[in-house]
Amino acid sequence: MSRSPIVARNIPALHRALDHLRLRKSTVALVPTMGALHDGHVSLVRLAKRRAAKVVVSIFVNPAQFAPSEDFGSYPRTWKSDVAKLAAEDVDLIWNPDVKTMYPDGFATRVVPEGPAVAGLEDRFRPHFFGGVATVVGKLFTQVRPDFAIFGEKDYQQLRVVARMARDLDLGVKVVGSRTVRERDGLAMSSRNVYLSAQERQTAPVLHRAMKESVRRLRAGDDVAAAMAGSAEMITQAGFTLDYFEVRHAETLAPVGSLKDGPMRILVAAKLGKTRLIDNVAV
Ligand code: PAF
Repeated sequence: MSRSPIVARNIPALHRALDHLRLRKSTVALVPTMGALHDGHVSLVRLAKRRAAKVVVSIFVNPAQFAPSEDFGSYPRTWKSDVAKLAAEDVDLIWNPDVKTMYPDGFATRVVPEGPAVAGLEDRFRPHFFGGVATVVGKLFTQVRPDFAIFGEKDYQQLRVVARMARDLDLGVKVVGSRTVRERDGLAMSSRNVYLSAQERQTAPVLHRAMKESVRRLRAGDDVAAAMAGSAEMITQAGFTLDYFEVRHAETLAPVGSLKDGPMRILVAAKLGKTRLIDNVAV
């Protein structure tokens, strides 16, 4: 039988709930989300449960990581079904602050991440994004003080930025990446997939197929330019507008010339109609 998780909406309530969870010196894992939960988030929660005795999920649609032109207002908000999913997973606590609690009047401090945050990938197209993510995740870490924090590999650059920040600022949390969960046809699960029309939904798995083709060619010994060019063509031919399709060092996200330069990751961002999709795979 699943029970409803405790919901905290302000800092004193959060601290009371956390003190209770930690009574027996239990370890705590945090899963930061913006809600609109799908099976990808459920897999993050399951990983959190394997890592720690208690699991906290934050649900906060963070205005600081959206540009004025982006979908903050229309971002899917599905509170009731989110709570039901988290109850079914036996989550202990939901941290659900409102914007005023997270950014009180006069709020004037931001984290400005560098390194992987300025790798020339997402940051080139969404320059506001990683400052907003690092600021809110930094706050979530200091509010919850988790032992572990679980992030999906689907947002790979975000995972690298947050892991770097946790180390650089000695935040005392181990950032753990969780494998991307895919639909049967390879499309990475994302809260934004609901924006795709039926026809776009049929086209969307091309991104994953194209990346896998580049992986195959890189492993077969093709040089980087040759291995990437054919797949980029496959993506644009399918009707996407490409923002980037690149192979990078898996840790630093620096450009790489060949497999000898270390572990590699292929990363893609492309628009299909009005929907922008991102994805990545290990080489
Ligand atoms: O990946 C997300 O859902 C968000 O960027 C995060 C990490 C919850 C920060 O708002």
